[in-house]
Amino acid sequence: MMDQPGIGAALDRVDGMAKVTGRAVYAGEHPARGLLYGVAVGAEITRGRIVSIDASQARRIDGVVEVLTHENRPHVPWFDMRDGGSADSAKPPFRVLRNADIAFADQPIALVVGTSFEAARRGAMLVTTRYESASHNTRLDAALAERRTPEQKKRRNVTRGDVEAARAAAAAVVEQRYRLAMEHHHPIEMHATTVEWHGDGSVTVYDKNQGSQNARDQLAQAFGHAAGTLRVINPYVGGAFGSGLRPAYQAYLAMLAAVMLRRSVRVMLTRRQMFTHVHRPACIEDIILACDAESRLSAIALRATTSTSRVETYTENVVGWGPAAHPCPNLRLDYAVAALDTPTPGNMRAPGAATGMNLFEIAMDELAYARGVDPLALRLINYSDTHGLSALPYTSKALMAAYREGATRFGWHKRSHEPRSMRAGRELVGWGMATGIWDALMLPASARATLDRDGMLAIASAASDIGTGTCTIMAQIAAGALGLPLERVRVFLGDSSLPATALEGGSSMAASVGAAVSRACNGLARRLFEILTQSKDHPLGAARFDEMEFRDGRLRLAGDPSRSMALGDIVALSGESSLQCEAAVDPSKDGVGAKAKNTHSAVFAEVRVDEELGVPRVTRLTLAVAAGRIINPKTARSQILGGAVMGIGMALQEQSMFDHRLGRIMNHSLAEYHIPCHADINDIEVIFVDEPDAETSPLGVKGVGEIGIVGTAAAIANAVHHATGKRIRELPITLDRLL
Ligand code: MOS
Repeated sequence: MMDQPGIGAALDRVDGMAKVTGRAVYAGEHPARGLLYGVAVGAEITRGRIVSIDASQARRIDGVVEVLTHENRPHVPWFDMRDGGSADSAKPPFRVLRNADIAFADQPIALVVGTSFEAARRGAMLVTTRYESASHNTRLDAALAERRTPEQKKRRNVTRGDVEAARAAAAAVVEQRYRLAMEHHHPIEMHATTVEWHGDGSVTVYDKNQGSQNARDQLAQAFGHAAGTLRVINPYVGGAFGSGLRPAYQAYLAMLAAVMLRRSVRVMLTRRQMFTHVHRPACIEDIILACDAESRLSAIALRATTSTSRVETYTENVVGWGPAAHPCPNLRLDYAVAALDTPTPGNMRAPGAATGMNLFEIAMDELAYARGVDPLALRLINYSDTHGLSALPYTSKALMAAYREGATRFGWHKRSHEPRSMRAGRELVGWGMATGIWDALMLPASARATLDRDGMLAIASAASDIGTGTCTIMAQIAAGALGLPLERVRVFLGDSSLPATALEGGSSMAASVGAAVSRACNGLARRLFEILTQSKDHPLGAARFDEMEFRDGRLRLAGDPSRSMALGDIVALSGESSLQCEAAVDPSKDGVGAKAKNTHSAVFAEVRVDEELGVPRVTRLTLAVAAGRIINPKTARSQILGGAVMGIGMALQEQSMFDHRLGRIMNHSLAEYHIPCHADINDIEVIFVDEPDAETSPLGVKGVGEIGIVGTAAAIANAVHHATGKRIRELPITLDRLL
């Protein structure tokens, strides 16, 4: 008997071989007949306007076909769409080549199109531009005076109780300013688009994004395409981390060139241009925490400001996480944004929580030291089974188990409380911990299951696998539901013409698409049963559906393999060539109402700091995660590992550094924008604690894409304090800040 590869099996990725052998074709690799290549030219000033732009030299380069600027680009509906407002994923991004205005450094001001990438790149170097400069500001500090709270965020700025009275009566108070640097997403695959021009007015757009249908809708609207004439395909996405929630500007540039030249066009961003697309906003947060003599939180006051651009307003939930995880009667939350002359920021892995919760958990560590209590004990004293802001009970919350199992595996009880009290040779050893929290989201999704006479099952959904393992877990869910070996299941994702799904964001895919796939397969199972039991001389007798089992590619009476039929043969019985079932999940119907839905984690970090050099290394991390049901422990663990590695980057390395006089990012390459490399990564242990949940989503799944970064940076920062006695309140903790 073969193993059933269903929910819970630690399977390898079904698309792993295609990826490592290069058979997986990405957006910037799709072949197209007569393909042209576009290279974007960036503005040399940070703010102002173009006075004149001269492309005559570029046009003389052999192979250069056209140079698009704001003066000659085709007019499409995009340029008439309404401006500004909130920068959410369903809104068009910054409109490149719209007019002569320059809003940020390196803003694309021209697209050189050639018959080869090399010709286009050469041409791009020869475009000369005259500008009229205006003053700019890229410092968040200097913009704080102009901070403002967007209307739709005002109701989240909760005030309750009496913070000042609680603070006056407190046994301990922490009041400090914390900072997080601007960070940039760095997926392996740069943003890229290949527009295939079909000549009949329709186009196929191979684009890197986190939502084939969102990209289709946005591009169709921007370019005036009728329904069905623009299709977006993205079966493989080489990581995105939120950078693909909105289509990136190269998609619009490629479309503009295709429309103008009536040819297929490819535009791919360079690594440097990835710094002009989207980023995690910088944050400055003033935190006040107070507790009573029992170390129970008595006051929380948070005043956070994140950066946005001058052209749009990007907001996130920064201040809501700490008080959600650690309830407190007296609260004052104040979130606002301040505009800089940069591109608009956007979602980056656990947007808002990675910022707000990591800074909050550093402050919690400070409160523990101010009170002289163990940092873990402080969390346990303030533990709650209800959500601290909404006061709602959780669908499930196994954070207590996460604290316990994480602490045990890490060996937290062996820690000595005093900073600088643990050593290994020349190195100071520090142990720190933090709490993580993220939303357990379910979004609208649908999927189609099609079974043919050969017993092959095809699963189809517009959702794409952004590198997280979606394809694998969908195959698993389907195989498990119909008792098929994995080789008999094919998963088709990342195509806007497939059944509708929401964006691949917020760690929602496993719960949402997973439930749709499960439903579609269960619907198919019932059809198969009906077809078989309505046929003559079938082997099941008077058995009911609930007495059936699907195993080894057969439908059979539970426990009796002799009374069974192969699924493909049942399809044949129907007279059809295949049977199909489509199903959807709708959070408004399938979601729970009055309960809080969150994932949680307890993160424990060990750092070692060479006393003479001052260089911190993360030598151990333990993440105990409570995320409901885990479909595939292997791919789920990889998600947590990835989040933890990003957390290490956030704690010690990642920052987009401006030369503020020029308003330009100086470290715009992976040589100088530091992310952790293999040598920076040591032992990372991931524990999934048992968290049965029958309510968060139909499969009890909560999602694991983002929780791994939340709390990790704080645990490391707290470990650095424990090792060195120095409290650094500015992430990343670089050498200059630590020395
Ligand atoms: Mo995620 S930042 O919602 O892709």
